[in-house]
Amino acid sequence: MKKWKSALVALGAIGALALAGCGSSERDGAAESPSDAASGFDAGAAIGVALPQKTSENWVLAEQLFNDGLKDAGFKPIVQFANGGVTEQQNQIDAMVEQGAKVIVVGAIDGSQLGTQLKAAKDAGVKVIAYDRLVKNTDAVDLYVAFDNFRVGELQGQALLDGLAARKGAGPYNIELIAGSSDDANSTPFFEGALSILQPKIDDGTLTIVSGQTSFEQAATQGWKGENAQKRMDTILSGFYAGDTKLDGILSPNDTLARAALTAVQQAGKDVPVITGQDSEVESVKSIVAGVQYSTIYKDTRELVAKTIDQIKLAQQGQDFEVNDTTSYDNGVKVVPAYLLEPKIVTQENAAEVYANDPTLGPLTK
Ligand code: BGC
Repeated sequence: MKKWKSALVALGAIGALALAGCGSSERDGAAESPSDAASGFDAGAAIGVALPQKTSENWVLAEQLFNDGLKDAGFKPIVQFANGGVTEQQNQIDAMVEQGAKVIVVGAIDGSQLGTQLKAAKDAGVKVIAYDRLVKNTDAVDLYVAFDNFRVGELQGQALLDGLAARKGAGPYNIELIAGSSDDANSTPFFEGALSILQPKIDDGTLTIVSGQTSFEQAATQGWKGENAQKRMDTILSGFYAGDTKLDGILSPNDTLARAALTAVQQAGKDVPVITGQDSEVESVKSIVAGVQYSTIYKDTRELVAKTIDQIKLAQQGQDFEVNDTTSYDNGVKVVPAYLLEPKIVTQENAAEVYANDPTLGPLTK
């Protein structure tokens, strides 16, 4: 049965979920503490934060949280997006080094294009923290702070299987795969994590990828752009799902691409497929509550930014970074010591509970 209509009606039932700014909390510590003569730095130092493009709401939220949190901690934040692309981000990092930033936090557009800039930062004594996305092929990175990307993929793969069993009856099922942008170092662990769960079910015939597009390269979505995912899905639907061929499920790496794929499926006149996502974006949370999008992932940006700022305070005091993983994130030159946070899967069943304390998304029943 098609559920599009009832779902749209249900959307109205949710309270306002605007991407509200969140208040800066008072932070103790670093502002008043003296710099460590041995290896720390001035308590009021400049801190650079190089953000990528605004490809999802988590990045927009991070900008404000870094500005507020770093100011509260007594630092001078230089927080910049690079909407113009890789060259702009390279120039911004160079400028941050010139402006005397003591730590540079990098959310890379292209994790393998920053080697020269990060080497210059390292040579100038700047500590480099890769934020959310790993930077590749350089030893000029001191720490990686992120939600565990491979785990995100595993949760997405499992959610797809659970959703198919719950909403599409007994298998076998027809599915399609979508991956993130190939320049983002996260896209591979997301995809591989998901495939680690799905592959046995592909091998035993429970899942069929009707288009035959099974590789990361075939499934990738340049620039994480919704329009690219939608176009690809349009082509797949007209080429492989003509007539009564059912599309039961779609692995989508994030919410933006999930919504784009759902638009393509809806326009093709097909039933709502079980579809995964990530980021807990406002529109997707509404869709999950309404029973359309099946799942998303909650990676609380507040937690990730706060953890990153805690690490900057440690560096300011001349202390070592706090690390909880020293094996998982090999960037091609070194295994980058990491502080990893646990992502959470969210479906209609647990959405109210997961977002209960989130100032942007909860409470859902208001
Ligand atoms: C982030 C995802 C996000 C994607 C697109 C990734 O690097 O980890 O949360 O969906 O970028 O912005």
